[in-house]
Amino acid sequence: MPDEILSIFPEINEIKDATLRSKTAATWTAAMKRSTLSYDDLRTMPFTLLVSNVNVTFVEHVRTVCKMCIACWDVLQKAYGDRNVVDRDILVAGAMLADVGKVLEFTKKDGQFVKSEHGRLLRHPFSGVGLCWEQGLPESVIHVVAMHSKEAAGGKRTPEGIVLHHADFIDFELVGG
Ligand SMILES: [Fe+2]
Repeated sequence: MPDEILSIFPEINEIKDATLRSKTAATWTAAMKRSTLSYDDLRTMPFTLLVSNVNVTFVEHVRTVCKMCIACWDVLQKAYGDRNVVDRDILVAGAMLADVGKVLEFTKKDGQFVKSEHGRLLRHPFSGVGLCWEQGLPESVIHVVAMHSKEAAGGKRTPEGIVLHHADFIDFELVGG
């Protein structure tokens, strides 16, 4: 349900290109179809299972990181204008999709969110790449998803990949990861 996804993640509307915007929403909808989690679970699930008693929800994390990315882009744009090398649409789409694979990495058991068997084998950057690829997202966005986490440490990131990676880790490290 794209409308439900847009109400959970309104920042998807920040993507100006209509095709990219609808593919971003479609990737979330397809991910929820494959997930064992409900939309209510998505609304309440914790940002990470790596930190106990985390008081930030997953949705808050995704939205906050995206807003930090937009704030960074605004500063860069104001400072550098035409020399700003970061593409805003690719950055926003990448930010909204970096963690889409978490709805496959997490499942619910006895009322608790736990790592799924799928998640033990394929952490969310990998399933995220698969989900984005399936919906025909551009490689520039898939790259941001692929390169955002620890698995890509040492790899070369695009400008959008650099901004998202740092914004993501600001939030992750502040929460205590
Ligand atoms: Fe992530």
